[in-house]
Amino acid sequence: MQNLTQTSPFLKACRREKADHTPIWLMRQAGRYMPEYRAIRAKHTMLEVIGTPELAAEVTLQPINAFSPDAAIIFSDILPPLIGMGLNLEFAKGEGPVIHNPIGSAADIAQLRTPTAEENMQPTLEAIKLVTAELTPRGIPLIGFSGAPFTLASYAIEGGGSKNYAKTKALMVSDPAAWNELLDKLVTVQVDYLRKQAAAGASALQLFDSWAGLALGWEDYRRYVAPHNKRLFEEVKTTGVPLINFSMGTAVYLDEVAACGGDVIGLDWRIPLDWGWQKVGYDRAVQGNLDPTILLTEWPIVQAHADDVLRRADGRPGHIFNLGHGIFPNVSPDIVQRLIAYVQEKTTNDE
Ligand code: CP3
Repeated sequence: MQNLTQTSPFLKACRREKADHTPIWLMRQAGRYMPEYRAIRAKHTMLEVIGTPELAAEVTLQPINAFSPDAAIIFSDILPPLIGMGLNLEFAKGEGPVIHNPIGSAADIAQLRTPTAEENMQPTLEAIKLVTAELTPRGIPLIGFSGAPFTLASYAIEGGGSKNYAKTKALMVSDPAAWNELLDKLVTVQVDYLRKQAAAGASALQLFDSWAGLALGWEDYRRYVAPHNKRLFEEVKTTGVPLINFSMGTAVYLDEVAACGGDVIGLDWRIPLDWGWQKVGYDRAVQGNLDPTILLTEWPIVQAHADDVLRRADGRPGHIFNLGHGIFPNVSPDIVQRLIAYVQEKTTNDE
């Protein structure tokens, strides 16, 4: 059995060690842009794929077998852990996720359960075992993940996606005690889930705080979110695996985000990578941050933008190439193939 920590360019970059090439994987790399994925989704709902270890494992492996990125990410979503807490989640066709019984009061929050990962997410833990049995001998690490408390709370309160997060912010500012109870429960559930993903074989863990920066100004982030994210990172550190802290729209308070924790800070597509890395500090690795819309253009344009990201990373150990948010469903698989091969080849050290 290979020791992934010593051989994987992705895991080396997480620890800011020099790797034979700049590792690359793409957020949402298993998804609708792949015909293999659409074939499975034609026969099964999103929750069926997530809830069936063999299907989740198969979908996780699809982009690995097609494009050879440097890491896999377990196929699931950030929202299914909410189901066992008492929320009625559906991935509605064409609408994205919907929660049919959103939280509206402190009483609703008091009712929320905090199930263990075994009770709540057993199929995903099984899928992690299946995938790592296949990928570890091939030298490829698997990333586990969870949603961050603010992003999950926003779905739980709004009942789905939101433009202005008005209900979420109203609860946050008008009833801080209920807000803290909600985020405490979310952190408790995610910490247990993340630890058990690592125990099942995940070599790194990513926290997706996709909406905090789009919803919250600096003071609100500091007051209502940062303490909860800090607790989460602190408690997940015991796994010993690298932690990736991804958020969007947090440029003005990126240092505050980084202070919450994470060995790797995920940078979104809105900022120049060199500016972000400097703000985060060179004692952290960074992941990012090609604008995902660029993948909808022609290859020479994709190549020029990839070159720009690499130029800004400047060969510094600790850069993981990725998109600055998830890949779009209408990207051509051929562009993905070329991007991954290009980054791996262009950055290969011959020494
Ligand atoms: O990166 C990966 O390949 C792992 C799988 C993964 C998915 N969602 C699969 C998915 C991960 C890590 C996520 C995270 C996620 N899910 C986030 C945080 C990251 C981000 O994108 O900001 C959020 C906010 C969600 C919630 C969510 N799930 C939304 C808003 C949607 C609908 C929008 C969309 O892209 O369709 C989903 C559905 C979803 N999650 C799909 C996939 C592949 C599409 C489902 C399908 O129709 O097949």
